[in-house]
Amino acid sequence: MTEKPPAGTPNPTAASPMPEAHEAADAPAGARRPEEPHEGRPPLEPATPAAAPASPAPSDDGSRIVEVENAGFTYDGEAFVFEGLDLSIEQGQFVCLLGGNGSGKSTLAKHLNALLVPDEGRVLVMGRDTRDAHATYFIRSNAGMVFQNPDDQLVASLVENDVAFGPENLGIPTPELAQLVKRSLAEVGLQGYGARETQALSGGQKQRVAIAGVLAMDPRLLILDEASAMLDPRGRKGLLRVCRELHERGLTIVMITHFMEEAALADRVCVLDGGRIRLDGPPEDVLTQGELLESLNLNVPFACRMSLALQKRGVPVKTCIANAELEEELCRLFSIG
Ligand SMILES: Nc1ncnc2c1ncn2[C@@H]1O[C@H](COP(=O)(O)OP(=O)(O)OP(=O)(O)O)[C@@H](O)[C@H]1O
Ligand SMILES: [Mg+2]
Repeated sequence: MTEKPPAGTPNPTAASPMPEAHEAADAPAGARRPEEPHEGRPPLEPATPAAAPASPAPSDDGSRIVEVENAGFTYDGEAFVFEGLDLSIEQGQFVCLLGGNGSGKSTLAKHLNALLVPDEGRVLVMGRDTRDAHATYFIRSNAGMVFQNPDDQLVASLVENDVAFGPENLGIPTPELAQLVKRSLAEVGLQGYGARETQALSGGQKQRVAIAGVLAMDPRLLILDEASAMLDPRGRKGLLRVCRELHERGLTIVMITHFMEEAALADRVCVLDGGRIRLDGPPEDVLTQGELLESLNLNVPFACRMSLALQKRGVPVKTCIANAELEEELCRLFSIG
């Protein structure tokens, strides 16, 4: 594994929104900006090892990746997107964040890599306070974000250059960099794609390149904000498989989605509404709360709706949340396969 880039150095894989009132002030100049179109590679900042303070904070015991403590945030100084919000995410969890439009999912996600900082309370990422300017690069090096639109996230015309963009910007030497790019592409199932043109890839492949770019920074937390939203079912499936594999290998994942079937794959589902966490638990507990989910503008997964409907008609199936689980259950019932 490549040695971790020193904290305090710019992390171009941490995508930044346009400057906002409460945006952390020291966003790196070379950062990817997913909401902006790119023409080739944005200007690079030189690697600045001398500016790297960054020892992990004493409170980073390694088990808690994220601690949101009594946090409040407002864009305009008046209306709070969330207030008094508490959320703790353990190392290695696969957390799915659900909520209706405007419930604050993206705002919260941006707090997890210090793109936004709270007005009240605090957010700790790997034990470091996101409001501490000295911790910003450490946090962004360790918490990579992938956004919705694959076209807005790639910064180079060749896949290998795109994946290399982050670590190269940190001054990682060329031979090591080549290995890192190879490894990161393999991790997302894109072995041999290094010399391809990024613009000639499918949406799903582009998203995987974006993830490879994040993985090249060797993060501990991967945040996906509706990363599958623009993909077709096959692209979405491929992306989810990659996420599952990364999770099985220990990466902590926070995934925002509107697809309930995707939520069924997580270890833990949190539902955000009106600035607070309304439901929090394993998918089988949360995704089966039909009425509550519907009142929060969310669907119940198909498998759950179907198994509940069958139960109502006296068919002895258990309540399922994933299609594959329901298929198994029906096959068992009819002794097929
Ligand atoms: N840059 C911004 N400036 C001002 N208000 C904003 C900004 N971004 C989001 N908001 C407001 O903050 C609230 C939460 O928005 P956010 O984008 O976090 O919701 P979301 O849950 O991600 O929604 P969606 O499901 O549509 O992506 C909304 O009321 C939104 O209008
Ligand atoms: Mg959003």
